[in-house]
Amino acid sequence: MDKYMKKQILLCLLGCLVAGVVRATEVPQVANVMARQITSLNGAWNYIVDVQEEGYYDYRMNPTRWGFFVNAKPQRPEDLIEYDFDKAPTMQVPGDWNTQDDRLFFYEGTVWYKRSFEWHRNGDHRTLLYFGAVNYEAHVYVNGKLAGHHVGGFTPFNYDVTDLLREGENFVILKVDNKRRAENVPTLIFDWWNYGGITRDVLLVDVEPVYIENYRLQLESLEGRRLSFSVRLNRPEAGQQVTLNIPELKLKKTVTTGPDGTATIFMKAKPQLWSPDNPKLYQVVIQRGTETLRDEVGFRTIEARGKQLLLNGKPIFLKGISIHEEKANGGGRANSTADAHTLLSWAKELGCNYVRLAHYPHNEYAVREAERMGIMVWSEIPVYWTIAWTDAGTYANAERQLTDMISRDQNRANVIIWSIANETPHSAQRDEFLSRLARHARSLDSTRLISIAMEVTSASNYKNRLQDNMSEYVDVVSFNQYIGWYRDVNDASKMEWEIPYDKPVIVSEMGGGAKYGLHGDKNQRWTEEFQENLYRENLAMLDKIDGLAGLSPWILKDFRSPRRVLNGIQDYYNRKGVFSDRGEKKKAFYVLQEWYRTK
Ligand code: GCU
Repeated sequence: MDKYMKKQILLCLLGCLVAGVVRATEVPQVANVMARQITSLNGAWNYIVDVQEEGYYDYRMNPTRWGFFVNAKPQRPEDLIEYDFDKAPTMQVPGDWNTQDDRLFFYEGTVWYKRSFEWHRNGDHRTLLYFGAVNYEAHVYVNGKLAGHHVGGFTPFNYDVTDLLREGENFVILKVDNKRRAENVPTLIFDWWNYGGITRDVLLVDVEPVYIENYRLQLESLEGRRLSFSVRLNRPEAGQQVTLNIPELKLKKTVTTGPDGTATIFMKAKPQLWSPDNPKLYQVVIQRGTETLRDEVGFRTIEARGKQLLLNGKPIFLKGISIHEEKANGGGRANSTADAHTLLSWAKELGCNYVRLAHYPHNEYAVREAERMGIMVWSEIPVYWTIAWTDAGTYANAERQLTDMISRDQNRANVIIWSIANETPHSAQRDEFLSRLARHARSLDSTRLISIAMEVTSASNYKNRLQDNMSEYVDVVSFNQYIGWYRDVNDASKMEWEIPYDKPVIVSEMGGGAKYGLHGDKNQRWTEEFQENLYRENLAMLDKIDGLAGLSPWILKDFRSPRRVLNGIQDYYNRKGVFSDRGEKKKAFYVLQEWYRTK
């Protein structure tokens, strides 16, 4: 056995020894990540499309230790390495692969990503590797070692990778797989494009060994204007001093953590209240030792009282529109403040004070931009259509997404409703699954409203009746109805509604399709006149609903869907937008805008 082989085996043994001890740990998502010491890993990443997961399994379909995550390079001329990231093309991160590589427009499967970066130790500080979102399943490797595995395409996750890093050049490799599976959340079928990839920011976050993991600051009640501030450290460290400072309110308080590493304080204050007309945000500084987190926080109360929705104690009507997280002009997954501003400005033109961010948590930039623009938000997890109700893994996944959605956006004053599902078929298993989620959401946040997008899919003798066992678990009863499109065309004026619950009512979806620029008789499907008439008739009908407190028609703009295949009309777009994908206003836009003027 020659000396080279001996060296190889030695290296391998050494590798195994080292592999044995150094590893990463998944840690709860760090809140307000952009306010931390961060290094962005956004930009061009090399990628390898791996249809048969050659980089993960051997030819016996067993996971291999010599997968692409090793980033191996030939050491000798005869060495056989059949991949090379550094010779592979690049694409932008954050971003989906479908709109960056024409070969991947319809692709659902595995793509490997690689990015090299410099790192230098900062004393006893820890380094977290943070992802805003990766759709759908991510295996994350740092310097060839597994840092972690995550499922769910729309919420943040992060790992403490300090022990995997080395001085100087490092590399991170991801196996990203967006294949649809029955047990996933969402499940096998959904009416939006399954954009795959590293769809949101990737950051290195430098934190002290003990750091502020999350905090919550809000107005507890209008009476006496009581604010509450609670903070949680990453470790159960007692005696840690955390100072909250809101200069504009001349409010500066220090709390001391208890043995569980948390602390809570209540204080009196007279903040201006956040509302669509006055989206007032306060500069907030949270300090612990040398750690400083800055944020912008608004204060408001939201409640349901009988059939009324009260914002800051006053009745409010939610003039809304539903939105998918998709850039305009065929640009794929939206992932920036600018993307959000474009879509939200269109909603503002409509006269909206509220948006339903469907059907999954949108990126944090969008939620914060809506907050600055005075737009209230319904935020939802993708428990969509027929989920695997009895699968424990599916429930854990859904609950995890709910937890992550709430812990990321719990300080956003404009987020008023957490939605835990959309159009789910009635069954005892479904009720069990959703009622658990509703209880979980309430245990995490009792200050916001819980809802579900229910359905009214038929009327007997023009009588529409909402009946859903889940109505007892929600604060607002919301339902989708498609009179004039999927049913009862031109019958809206004859319809009656019975919603036997003493709760505010939101019509979370209504609408119909139209191809922008296609004109004709109002009874001609796909024409703007058909959609315009549908809106006119529906809005007049909705005015008759007792307790109607809000509306979010389906949808702001045409969006991509693999379920929409009608050539010449849909061409893989759902055409129910009141705007085309290019931002052109359809006739229905003006009908809705006018109706909101009256509200
Ligand atoms: C459903 C569903 C949407 C879908 C819409 C439609 O109600 O919630 O996701 O796009 O209908 O059929 O256009």
